[in-house]
Amino acid sequence: MHACRGSSQPTRATVTERVRIENLYKIFGDSPQEAVRLLRSGKTKDELLASRYVVGLNDVSISVPAGSIFMVMGLSGSGKSTLARCINRLIEPDAGRILIDGEDVTRADAARLREIRRSRVSMVFQHFALLPHRTVAENAEFGLKMRGLPARERREKARRILEVVGLAAWENHRPAELSGGMRQRVGLARALATEADVLIMDEAFSALDPLIRNEMQDELLRLQQVLKKTILFITHDFQEAIRLGTRIAIMADGAVVQEGTAQEIVLSPNNDYVAAFTRHIDRTRVFDAASVMSPAEPIVLSGDGTVVEQRRGGLGPAYATDPEGRILGYYAPEDLDSLSETREPKALLRKDFSAVRSDAKLFEVAPLCRSQRPVAVVDENGRLCGRIEADSVLAWIGNNQTRAS
Ligand SMILES: Nc1ncnc2c1ncn2[C@@H]1O[C@H](COP(=O)(O)OP(=O)(O)O)[C@@H](O)[C@H]1O
Ligand SMILES: [Mg+2]
Repeated sequence: MHACRGSSQPTRATVTERVRIENLYKIFGDSPQEAVRLLRSGKTKDELLASRYVVGLNDVSISVPAGSIFMVMGLSGSGKSTLARCINRLIEPDAGRILIDGEDVTRADAARLREIRRSRVSMVFQHFALLPHRTVAENAEFGLKMRGLPARERREKARRILEVVGLAAWENHRPAELSGGMRQRVGLARALATEADVLIMDEAFSALDPLIRNEMQDELLRLQQVLKKTILFITHDFQEAIRLGTRIAIMADGAVVQEGTAQEIVLSPNNDYVAAFTRHIDRTRVFDAASVMSPAEPIVLSGDGTVVEQRRGGLGPAYATDPEGRILGYYAPEDLDSLSETREPKALLRKDFSAVRSDAKLFEVAPLCRSQRPVAVVDENGRLCGRIEADSVLAWIGNNQTRAS
């Protein structure tokens, strides 16, 4: 069976785990080990505060799949930055393990730690401002220069990333010659032009004004399709979390209170704290085609056009695919009877259908549902994996949007 999944159904078995955090604790105070014992025995954050311990992290465990954007979301003071900074030990955790590709970072000596920071885990800081007197290329390679990469190597890397952001032709220009949006893209390129596969972005977009912030989110998603880094992205903004994240961990008082896909969290928030974030969310931007589709039950046609397989009971259009699952067209219900009689099933095929990817969000699917054409759902290879019943989708949106507001 080919893969057909929306963001709600990651294929866990095939994904490797790049970062794993196990039972991590960080306490600010004089005797953190005692505080860890108190936490493990069930004392609360407030009780520890009375003993002058500030709980930074309380038994945090997360698993970050390679190539994904993993969001850590929570209100100010919930421990997000502490977690981010523990990963490459800018802050030393008091208990627990941090594994990067299976290597326990908490056991690394100073030399190994330097190497890990250079080649494995990179922090992206908030400022995307460029150096005005340097060229675009010099700006793009700036981070690599700081890390001591030789000139030729860093220029080559900078050039490659400028190509990805579509600014290769501008490499010898100064930032002042670029539009505001282009300058932001160079800033993001500089941040992502690193050796490290794992990037930690702590509120990287939080200081940007909303329009530019949106552009940067789009650009990051686009870049990520090419670069496939493993990104741990910290934010206090749930909108940003669902927009960027493959998975989201929600933190409160130093602990992870819920972890899952945006769909899982919006569908069943664990508690009132989480529910409060999800209440005013536009659900059509969270739920995808896969979450509302019906089984496709295709009619399979062979290369010469004869019917190989006809599994179908439902009403509505019947999609026909080739043996690989690619859509050839569909049959209207009134054509199905003639199908068993004709020698040329392909001649009866209709082509006026729309196709959406299984991970397309419902706000993108809805306009198609409003047209008269049938809507098929396809996977990333263009193979049929379901069909959308327009009426039920529009009804779903009607119900969920009124509840959300
Ligand atoms: N160096 C420190 N000393 C004492 N308390 C700290 C220190 N750093 C962070 N904290 C406390 O730890 C908690 C988590 O902080 P932080 O990780 O910065 O939260 P966030 O990034 O989610 O806003 C807060 O209560 C904060 O006051
Ligand atoms: Mg912070």
